[in-house]
Amino acid sequence: MRTIDLRSDTMTQPTEAMRRAMAEAKVGDDVFCEDPTINRLEEMAAERLGKEAALYVSSGTMGNLVSQLAHCGRGDEIILGSHAHTFFFEQGGSAAVGSIHPRTVPNQPDGKMALEDIESAIRGDNVHFPRTRLILLENTHNLCNGCPLEIDYMQAVGEIARRYNLKIHVDGARIFNAAVALGAKPKDLAAEADSVSFCLSKGLAAPVGSVVCGTQDFINEARRARKVLGGGMRQAGVLAAAGIVALNEMVDRLADDHANAKKLAIGLADMPGISINPDHIQTNIIFFEIVRGDMAPEEFVQKIHVGGVRMLPVGPQKVRAVTHYHITSEDIDQALRVISKVMG
Ligand SMILES: Cc1ncc(COP(=O)(O)O)c(C=O)c1O
Repeated sequence: MRTIDLRSDTMTQPTEAMRRAMAEAKVGDDVFCEDPTINRLEEMAAERLGKEAALYVSSGTMGNLVSQLAHCGRGDEIILGSHAHTFFFEQGGSAAVGSIHPRTVPNQPDGKMALEDIESAIRGDNVHFPRTRLILLENTHNLCNGCPLEIDYMQAVGEIARRYNLKIHVDGARIFNAAVALGAKPKDLAAEADSVSFCLSKGLAAPVGSVVCGTQDFINEARRARKVLGGGMRQAGVLAAAGIVALNEMVDRLADDHANAKKLAIGLADMPGISINPDHIQTNIIFFEIVRGDMAPEEFVQKIHVGGVRMLPVGPQKVRAVTHYHITSEDIDQALRVISKVMG
């Protein structure tokens, strides 16, 4: 029995084209900026995101951390969402490693921070306060049903940032999902951002890696931060080669993942004991609630695993499912059959 693994889009395996490109990649020492494949990936990424320069890093976590380290100094403050991946799931790296103070503002259900909340979190000039330096946005927003942030919201945050002389970093781990869902260009979604990081190893199916994009000066600083974190990777062109294939071949098909997530959400909405509003699903991440007192999410997840379907329990009632390259429309039908039996 094939497992239908909906735990995360990080479960994706490299494609045949990626494996070939990896085997044939020309490489060099990237700490000397001499790996031609990494240089090519960085040029492509900068061009797609409309920025001057880019830096290949090992992970989304490293991309967000080097960006914060490049923008902020010791004791500076960043404003970010209460449900931001960077706040929840990155070990508080900016505080632990960079002495950067996080100031959270509530995330609305659509992944945004209310503009008035952002503005009122910005510190005035006062000897008691840390200095606000950076606003961090997440697009798509993982914990908020994978919601994409639209261009007009980005522009509104950009206007605030300019008024208070702040920088904007976008954790765009899934910014290509946002672009496909909104029918927007990634560079237009990133236009207000001083820096943006995106992941190659999630829906785009590369085995490893993320890229940070920004001005050349910012990337020079981010490169220093990457080195001190131990992220200078030498002949990593063998990995970056898969990233080039990801950017060339794996972006447009993300629409299939979004259609499959919507189909799954619509199917789940009809099931007894499950609560979900399919209208909230715009990309490849769905959260739903088990609303049967006699079944905890852990038990639900164990039972569907026996039937060959995997999902993640993520709270007292919540379960997460993420569609990706290896999930077909037929897999969604099969997953719904298994879940229907369990809930029946
Ligand atoms: C929104 C978001 N940002 C950052 C990351 C971190 O990426 P990585 O696991 O590559 O460190 C993730 C991972 O799931 C994510 O969902």
